[in-house]
Formats: sequence, structure tokens, C-alpha cells
Amino acid sequence: MEDSPLKTPSDVRAQALQTMNEESRENLARRRFSPEKIDIFNASQTSLEALKEYRFLKNTEAERMLPGIINNPVQQVIIDADPDEKAKAQFSKPRHIGVVFSGGPAPGGHNVIAGLFDEMKRFNSASKMFGFIKGPEGLLENRYIEITAELVDTHRNMGGFNMIKTGRTKIDSGSKMELALTVCKGLKLDALVIIGGDDSNTNAAFLAQHFKSSGIKVIGIPKTIDGDIQVKTETGKVLCATSFGFHSAARAFAQNISNLANDGSSDIKYWHVCKVMGRVASHLTLETALQTHVNIALIGEELADYVDQDRLAKAREKGEQMDYNAYGMTLRHLSRVICDIIVRRAAFGKNYGVMIIPEGILEFINEIQVFITKLNKIIADYNRIHDIDFHRTFPTLNEKLDYLRRISQGMMDKGRFPIWNIRDDELFNQLPRFFREGLLVERDFHGNFQFSQVKTEKIIMDMVKEYLDVLREQGRYKVGILRDDYVSLMHDAGMDPDLFAPALFKNPQDKYVLVKPDIISLKTLRHALVNAGMLDSEEETPEIFINIFRKSQAEFKTQPHFYGYDGRGTDPTYFDCCYAYNLGLTAFHLIAGGATGQMAAIINLEKEFDQWQPAGIPIARLMHLEERKGRLELVMEKSIVDLESNAFKVFQAIREDWVAACACPDRFRNPGAIGVSKEMEEDRPLTLRLNALKSQ
Ligand code: FBP
Repeated sequence: MEDSPLKTPSDVRAQALQTMNEESRENLARRRFSPEKIDIFNASQTSLEALKEYRFLKNTEAERMLPGIINNPVQQVIIDADPDEKAKAQFSKPRHIGVVFSGGPAPGGHNVIAGLFDEMKRFNSASKMFGFIKGPEGLLENRYIEITAELVDTHRNMGGFNMIKTGRTKIDSGSKMELALTVCKGLKLDALVIIGGDDSNTNAAFLAQHFKSSGIKVIGIPKTIDGDIQVKTETGKVLCATSFGFHSAARAFAQNISNLANDGSSDIKYWHVCKVMGRVASHLTLETALQTHVNIALIGEELADYVDQDRLAKAREKGEQMDYNAYGMTLRHLSRVICDIIVRRAAFGKNYGVMIIPEGILEFINEIQVFITKLNKIIADYNRIHDIDFHRTFPTLNEKLDYLRRISQGMMDKGRFPIWNIRDDELFNQLPRFFREGLLVERDFHGNFQFSQVKTEKIIMDMVKEYLDVLREQGRYKVGILRDDYVSLMHDAGMDPDLFAPALFKNPQDKYVLVKPDIISLKTLRHALVNAGMLDSEEETPEIFINIFRKSQAEFKTQPHFYGYDGRGTDPTYFDCCYAYNLGLTAFHLIAGGATGQMAAIINLEKEFDQWQPAGIPIARLMHLEERKGRLELVMEKSIVDLESNAFKVFQAIREDWVAACACPDRFRNPGAIGVSKEMEEDRPLTLRLNALKSQ
């Protein structure tokens, strides 16, 4: 205390320090909060029932590579009302369970551990849990801690993965799997629970296969803010509507974005351009848009589906059979679509707004996707052939570009159909430097393109700005002036508003008047007034007209924002607290029921809580072949936004209203702060609620 830098009387110092040590009220509420438990978990014992009616499309590669787990059925956890003594003893035997976080953090991770821990201890207090440090790396390096009740209590209902940290190391070889097995055997593990996304669940499936004969079970947990782990059966029955963490991240983004909307519509001068995480899929953008009603939200999946009907019509007129350029949206076309909305809003005095761009949008723009795929292959081939990393050999952009140029000239790749030809090289070099750098950025451990590292929003907004300049020159991008304001300004200047309005405006009687398109400078303003006989050619232009002209001038000012890591680190919503906790409980019951190679899931997650049903889904059945590091690999399939889903269709039907290009108020919605209180929180994501709607 004596050394305290606070030079104040000691009682004030004591109070100040006490104030600083106080936990926030939200944290205290989180510590007190107990997530709801699915009723089944109040039973004294459960068993697993195979749901054979749920089938998946066949994948022969998965059958070949994962023979030990491919025939797993979907299993639901049910109450075992009358277990025999042997079953009881087996169910509640002391266990050692290992747990590992894998990939990016997602709110709710600590609750998975809490659910698993509580249930494990409920059935046998001698059971132990070990947490591997820093993700799969800890598993391979035998670095772990024992998870204690105290540790669990400190982290209940809290965001982040701080308890044991996380990482993206891939367990991608026989020797690494063997190493993991040795570590698990050393700890006498009965089971390993991998809390991760699609790539981590892929790891879980391969480990389950490798561990099969050892008896160590492996269970996956659907984690990722991206919301791209969704499971449907062959017939479309939803078994897993989303991953945990998705709702919290979307709500965190939504809250920030809604604050921007509030600021932006008060100090009406900026377009806020928000890039939102989500890797390839636009689920987070869709949910955030539904939460906030922003003016523009781009859904990548929709762009790939876009058909330019005008182009097709022109091709037909010319007697051509087909114009393949009509399919899929180009960056240029996309920038035009955005400009159209900006211009239409400005005409009603709203030269501001909020737009959301999903970070993975480039995946759906053909011209860019081609570059990403080709560069993936070039980098992967280089690494394979030279046994040294492409980015180490060519650390600067110029060196990378030089290598690409040499390939295009046949100096490196002498194949008959070179993957990178002179045309590719020319087109690529027409892109801005920062963007080329982004497209060449190092791929992650799993060979994924790192969308979060690319300034996607910058390339789109640069094109938007460029086209708005053209529209401004053409007099098509102007700020509409409220007619009442024009009238009062004119009265204040002692002028007759009705007399001058036809000379100035193209729509003089409307609520918002727009200065005529050919008035684009003070000179053209003068001409218009002189031509209309409102001004003598020798006369100076009166100040009031200059003022009105200036008000109509549209400047396009943007503020860029990136929402991603903040949402990954936010505290979980009420929904995610409950969902993740019940996933932890489910994982225990799958292990106790002898399952392996299964992903814990909650069937009916999109419905009300009393309909939730804990289950295990065979991961091997969710796999498909995907291009990774330049070759096809068996990985868990990501789900992207379904353009036939209710959520997307509602968004599509309503979004023009959110553009609010009319003499109407903006439609922004404030979703409020994230909390754990049931009274203050919505019970589930809006996309899930909409998707669950069915006509009677
Ligand atoms: P996971 O798939 O591991 O959950 O991570 C998702 C994500 O947050 C993406 O939205 C984002 O593109 C990526 O991680 C960023 O990764 P990094 O942590 O390597 O920057």
C-alpha cells in the first residue's frame, strides 16, 4: 500500500482499490447463472438408441478411410429407466476424459467443459478430466492440466478459450495420430473430446478411427462462430441447426453495428462498411443483418447464383445462343449494385448508411475464386516439390509475382496446360497491389485460404468510389433536399421558392427535391438560372442558390470496420450458455454409452428448449472430398447459406424496406447487449427461428 502510486489519503486509496477490484455486475450474474438442462439429464441413467431412419449420402472415400466408424448410426440419448447392475456399474465407472479446444475461439467453449465436468463428477467423483494446452499441439506434446472444480467455476458462462487455450495444429499423419494415442494412453484416458469446427471434427473422425482398437473413445463438439456446421439427413431432416458460438458472435457484431447505425444516422455523413467474419459462408452476415436491419448486407452465396438477365436478353436479341458471362456476379457488377442503393438513399437526404460485407464474399465471385484456387495449387505444389515453404522462399510480394511470371512464361511449369498462363498473369497484375498481396497470403494449417487477412471491403469500396465519381459527374449522385427546408431557406433569403424551384429541381413538387442532373458545378448552376430567365447574365449568382447547390453535393465518406475477433471473444448469450452446456452433458452420455466417432448434437435446437433432444451424429457420414493445399482431401463438409431457407427468403423479401430509399425513417433495429438473463435475452438465433417456421 505504501508503495502505491495513488497519492491520496489511505481511506480513499483503499476505496479506490476496492472499486478497481470489483467484478462487473454482468460477470457476477454470469457466475450465478445455471444453464437450463435438458430434462433427460436429470435421469439417473441413460442409454443410446440408434435412429436408423436417419441416413446420409454415401461417400466411398469415407467408407474406405474410416471403416471402423462409418457404420455408426445417429444415436439419441434416452432415459434408461431400468438398467441392470452391470449396465449401472459400466455407466458410472471412474473415467479419465481428455478435452481439447481446436481452432478459433467461440463463446460457450467453457460451458462445454463445465457440462462435461459436472456430469462426469455427478456419476463418479473419482473421475478426472485433463485439458490439453493450446489445442491439438498440447495433445501431441503431452502438455495438459488437470481440470478442477475451481477452474471450471471460474470459467462458467464466460467467453474465450482461456482456460486451456486453443490452436490450429492439424493431426494429419499416421505418426501424429500414433503420438496422440501414446499421450492418451499415458493418461489412461477413456475418452477424448475435441471441441472444434469442421477441420477439428475431421481430426476427431480420423483419431476415432485410429484409436478404435485401443478402446479410447473420441467425440467431437460442433464449435465455430461461423455457423457452418449444420447437419441434415438425406431427406432434409435437420439434426444440427448450428454450432455453438454462432449466436453470441452474431449478437456481438449486431450490437456494435447497431451502435454504428445509431451514430451514423445522427451525424449523417458516413457510410459504415462492416466486414464480418465467417470464412466462406455468410451465415453470420445473414444473422447480423436480421438482427440490425442494416441498409445493405451482401450474401456471398446469392452472388454465385446471380444471373444477369439483361445480358442473356441481349445475347438472344443478337441471335447468340448463350452469354456465359451472364452467370455469377463480377466485382464490377457488385459495385454497381451497391452504388445504386447509395444513390437512391442520397436522393432522400440519406447520404449515409451501414453495409455488411461477409469476409468470404470473394469465394463466390468467379473471377477471384479462379485466382484463389490456382494460387492454392501453385503454393501447395511448390511446398511439396521443394520441401520448403513458398512464403519463406519468396517473402516479398515482388518475389512471389516474379515466380508467377516465370510460371506463366513456361519457365517453371512446362505442362501442356499450365495452371498459370500469360493471360492469368496479366489479369492478376491488373489488381491493386494490396489485393494481390492478400490473395497470396499464407494458407492456414489446414490449407484454408485466410479470408480474414484480405482487405475485401477495400477492393469493393474502391470500385464503388470510382463509379460514384462517374455518377456524380453525370449528375446522378446527389443529395435530396427536404422541400420544407428549401422553402424556409428561400423565405429567409426573401425569395419566392415556387418561382425558382422548376429551374433548380427535376422534381420540384416532391417531398425531397433533387437538383437537376445537368447542374453539376457553380458554372452549370448559373447557366441553368440564366437559361430559365431567373438571373441576368451579368448578375452574380445569389448566395442562397450556391448554398442550395452545395447542400445537394454528394460526398462519399466511409468508415471501415472489421468484426471478427471481438465476436469470437465475447461472452456467450443465454442461448449459447445453455446450448454449449448441454453439448458437454451430451458428450458425457455418448462416452458413457460407449460411442466413438460421433459429434454431440442437439436435435430440434431451432425449436423451443423443451423440444431439444441430445444425440450423437456419425462424423464419418458428414465427410466429402474437398480441394485443400492443391489436392483433394476427405474433410467434414461446411454448410453455406441455403438460398431456399426461410431465413434467406425473409431477408430477401424485406431488405428493400431496410434500404429505406424513401421519405421514411430508417428501419435500424437495436438487438441490445448480450446477457445471460432469460428475461432480457432472446431464446435463439433469428435464422433458426425463421427456419423452424412451417405453414400449418
Ligand atoms: P474456426 O473455424 O476455427 O471456428 O474459426 C473461424 C474463424 O473465426 C473464421 O471466421 C475466420 O476466418 C478465421 O477463424 C480466422 O482465423 P485466425 O484465427 O487464424 O485468424
